Amino acid sequence: MALSQFLPFFFFILSCSFHLITSQPYDYPSANLSTTWINSVSADHSVNFTDGSTIRAILLRGTFGPKYACGFYCNGNCDTYLFAIFIVQTNSASRITLPAIGFPQVVWSANRNKPVRINSTLELTAQGDLVLRDADGTLAWSTNTTGKSIAGLNLTDEGNLVLFDSKNATVWQSFHHPTDALVPGQRLVPGMKLTASVSTTNWTERGLFSLSFTDDGFVALVESNPPQTYFDVTIGRLNASRGSNYVVYLNGSLALLSNSSNSSNSQTLVSFSLATSAQYMRLESDGHLKVYEWQSGWTEMDDLLTGFNGECYYPMACGRYGICSRGQCSCPKSSSNSTTYFRQIDDRQGNLGCSEVTRLTCNASSNHRFLDLQDVDYFTFTTDIRNTSMNTCKDACLRNCSCKAALFRSGLNSSTGDCYLPSEIFSLANNEKDKTRYDSHAFIKVQVEPEIAAAKEKRRVNGAILGSVIGVSILGIIVGIAVFIFWKKKRKANEDEEDYLDHVPGMPTRFSYDDLKAATENFTKKLGQGGFGSVFEGCLADGTKIAVKCLDGIGQVKASFLAEVETIGSIHHVNLVQLIGFCAEKSHRLLVYECMSNGSLEKWIYHGKQEQTLDWNCRRKIIQDIAKGLAYLHEECRQKILHLDIKPPNILLDEKYNAKLADFGLSKLIDRNQSQVMTQMRGTPGYLAPEWLSGVITEKVDVYSFGIVLLEILSGRRHFEASESEDQQVMVNLFRRKAEEGKLVDLIDKHSEDMQFYKEEVVKAMQIAAWCLQSDFTKRPSMSMVVKAMEGVIDVDKDLDYSFRPQTVSAIPYISFADSTPLLPSILSGPR
Ligand SMILES: *[C@@H]1O[C@H](CO)[C@@H](O)[C@H](O)[C@H]1NC(C)=O
Ligand SMILES: *[C@@H]1O[C@H](CO)[C@@H](O)[C@H](O)[C@H]1NC(C)=O
Ligand SMILES: *[C@@H]1O[C@H](CO)[C@@H](O)[C@H](O)[C@H]1NC(C)=O
Ligand SMILES: *[C@@H]1O[C@H](CO)[C@@H](O)[C@H](O)[C@H]1NC(C)=O
Ligand SMILES: *[C@@H]1O[C@H](CO)[C@@H](O)[C@H](O)[C@H]1NC(C)=O
Ligand SMILES: *[C@@H]1O[C@H](CO)[C@@H](O)[C@H](O)[C@H]1NC(C)=O
Ligand SMILES: *[C@@H]1O[C@H](CO)[C@@H](O)[C@H](O)[C@H]1NC(C)=O
Ligand SMILES: *[C@@H]1O[C@H](CO)[C@@H](O)[C@H](O)[C@H]1NC(C)=O
Ligand SMILES: *[C@@H]1O[C@H](CO)[C@@H](O)[C@H](O)[C@H]1NC(C)=O
Ligand SMILES: *[C@@H]1O[C@H](CO)[C@@H](O)[C@H](O)[C@H]1NC(C)=O
Ligand SMILES: *[C@@H]1O[C@H](CO)[C@@H](O)[C@H](O)[C@H]1NC(C)=O
Ligand SMILES: *[C@@H]1O[C@H](CO)[C@@H](O)[C@H](O)[C@H]1NC(C)=O
Repeated sequence: MALSQFLPFFFFILSCSFHLITSQPYDYPSANLSTTWINSVSADHSVNFTDGSTIRAILLRGTFGPKYACGFYCNGNCDTYLFAIFIVQTNSASRITLPAIGFPQVVWSANRNKPVRINSTLELTAQGDLVLRDADGTLAWSTNTTGKSIAGLNLTDEGNLVLFDSKNATVWQSFHHPTDALVPGQRLVPGMKLTASVSTTNWTERGLFSLSFTDDGFVALVESNPPQTYFDVTIGRLNASRGSNYVVYLNGSLALLSNSSNSSNSQTLVSFSLATSAQYMRLESDGHLKVYEWQSGWTEMDDLLTGFNGECYYPMACGRYGICSRGQCSCPKSSSNSTTYFRQIDDRQGNLGCSEVTRLTCNASSNHRFLDLQDVDYFTFTTDIRNTSMNTCKDACLRNCSCKAALFRSGLNSSTGDCYLPSEIFSLANNEKDKTRYDSHAFIKVQVEPEIAAAKEKRRVNGAILGSVIGVSILGIIVGIAVFIFWKKKRKANEDEEDYLDHVPGMPTRFSYDDLKAATENFTKKLGQGGFGSVFEGCLADGTKIAVKCLDGIGQVKASFLAEVETIGSIHHVNLVQLIGFCAEKSHRLLVYECMSNGSLEKWIYHGKQEQTLDWNCRRKIIQDIAKGLAYLHEECRQKILHLDIKPPNILLDEKYNAKLADFGLSKLIDRNQSQVMTQMRGTPGYLAPEWLSGVITEKVDVYSFGIVLLEILSGRRHFEASESEDQQVMVNLFRRKAEEGKLVDLIDKHSEDMQFYKEEVVKAMQIAAWCLQSDFTKRPSMSMVVKAMEGVIDVDKDLDYSFRPQTVSAIPYISFADSTPLLPSILSGPR
């Protein structure tokens, strides 16, 4: 009897134990004084993950989903452990789960310079000190809080490990001692620094890179002597007073903020639309600053600094002395001299850098020479000598033994320029980016060995003819091998790409370029030209009509293109034009959409163009369709999608006049690839919301554009009609005047009797347009509210401001990005 009662329970436990690791529910976020935890194999809450990491959780906070825990952590060979805070997956019963993906992510550690072994102990002493001791009792780390009336230890919801006193005041917190990562809610303020690890496997703090706030701003450095900056946002440029507190704040949006309450002083560096899941940001051992997010797996969301500088402007992009050119690495060579001064450290891994064949020595400085590398640039430039000649710059480097290179930048074709004499050389970059702005020369100091040089010279004279014959044939072989390797590499790269393409599940159909060329009859029937490329009509072999969009200028992009295509292709909504396929071949990037037989809305709404006008019912349906499509993009997709170019040409009609949005998601796709330049203002004048000028935009810019389109549909005219008298040209101004006079009916499309018949309803729709056009974007409705308002379910806001700010094209600032250009708000906060 008793047994049969227990049996099911027993089996329940058994079956659960495959998924659940701990034997009891476990939400243990705080601890009292005089508690000791031992890092022993038999400890509770010990979990081995398939990536080789093991954790022994001490405190865990929260249930269900990615949550913070702290405890012992090891990775790979578990000889040594860290006392760390990490993010683990938990179930609804607060148990740590063992997912197939999503291993613990360490966001802080106490002892990365002094890892401890098995049987080490962590103790919160009776005196209030949190002490980590190795197995032999040696001190590894301590908070030094003895005598500060500590009452307990708490792991907060945000992942902050806190020692608090009897008044619950925080005495010590891990947030004040960041390692290489930041989590949402954590601040990096002056005096704090993120320091990268040595490598992804060696977590010792002596990595090369650091990120901090200084008086000069937000800087990422190589920790050489003196340090070399590879990224900075100078606070002066943000024009706020010095001495105030600047923070990197990761909270749904990663922001570079001042601590002043004046929000116009705070600048968003990068923001994400996704804040629904766990995130963290890490300064990687290669100097990249990356943001990760949990999306049923840890996903890299952003590589923050690359957008500003490009891959080649990372100090270790090609290792020391390596020259980076479009992601390829090579070693400095003399153009006039066959002597080899640098060798690749590893032939198969060019990015490990180059080593000097003969080391530079100070006591033989008469044998110093320069390799002259034209159009070679460096990720940083500190002017040591201003307005000087190239020769003075080189001489200065020769005289100074610690100088490793003379870097010279001058205006185009100018003989004088600025000189930088670094004492340590990291990666060099082929000057592709700024070639149009300045000339750059790198003179790399090398050591020549006089005896060897002389001996070579002698041999060369003796065997001149033989030598040249052998030389030529050897050269031929080398060139042959080089060409072969290059070809192989290239082929390999292409193959990798193609492989990747074939293995993406749930993707729209992949077409070959030739398929699409045939389908579009060699791209002859052009349907239109948009901001992102041209569109051509086509027909697939099975008779399906298609529209093929050729994207301009994103040829280099591979993985990110596919990722975005996957995103766009996975979005299905009756009011969005369906992506049915794509092509990514060599530099061709094409998207294949369903064909919309009635073309764009532009063809239908402006009077004079069409004998046949659309009736109110049809227009209302079109308006509702657009609103629903946008509401879906803004509110129902996994990732919020801003369209950023809502206008009649981007709204297409099928044979039944169902309206569908085209080009959604492209803004994001293009952004990924064109770095900062594309994060500037975009869209079409006339449809741009006023806040584009302030640089901070939200999805409400689409609502504004929608408002303009709505007015155009109702009035049957363009937002700007050059043929009208001056006071009638700008529709928004006319709209304001008519609204003030209470004569909105005057605006209703005069070419349609049907529209005139439904005056009342049309005027109501105009009020919705006014709501959408509010200058203060916070007052505009969301698109789902617009949908409801069109259905008459909710009323238009009564308190509307009709003083629409008219836009003038000339007021739009032109912003282009370059490293010496101040980072204007619109660049920093552009959509991503
Ligand atoms: C800490 O001490 C308090 C009061 O002595 C007790 O109620 C609580 O259960 C203790 N907490 C832990 C985690 O031991
Ligand atoms: C985890 O792996 C270690 C060896 O690395 C082993 O000693 C230990 O028993 C394992 N623990 C669990 C819970 O599987
Ligand atoms: C850890 O301590 C246990 C118990 O004291 C002991 O049996 C074990 O050998 C120790 N392990 C190591 C690696 O020292
Ligand atoms: C505690 O004090 C020791 C010795 O003064 C010091 O080395 C250590 O860095 C301090 N620990 C912390 C967390 O400040
Ligand atoms: C511990 O942290 C939690 C969550 O952040 C908080 O609610 C709680 O008040 C903290 N407890 C103490 C004693 O500080
Ligand atoms: C400290 O925080 C705990 C838990 O949040 C609460 O129960 C306690 O009353 C607080 N004590 C004081 C002195 O505020
Ligand atoms: C995140 O930001 C919002 C709005 O700025 C703020 O209300 C909230 O407290 C922040 N959350 C954290 C964890 O800091
Ligand atoms: C990690 O890097 C440090 C500094 O370069 C080095 O001293 C240490 O030996 C390395 N540790 C391992 C396990 O490789
Ligand atoms: C920055 O602010 C100062 C006054 O606080 C002002 O004089 C200066 O013109 C401003 N610079 C820019 C670029 O806005
Ligand atoms: C900003 O930080 C500075 C320096 O830490 C501090 O003096 C100032 O009071 C802070 N201002 C605000 C509004 O918090
Ligand atoms: C906020 O800063 C802006 C510009 O820096 C300034 O014009 C405005 O007056 C400030 N507002 C407050 C409340 O300090
Ligand atoms: C080129 O090689 C010769 C010896 O063959 C050497 O004397 C000379 O300094 C070299 N030039 C450079 C720029 O390295």
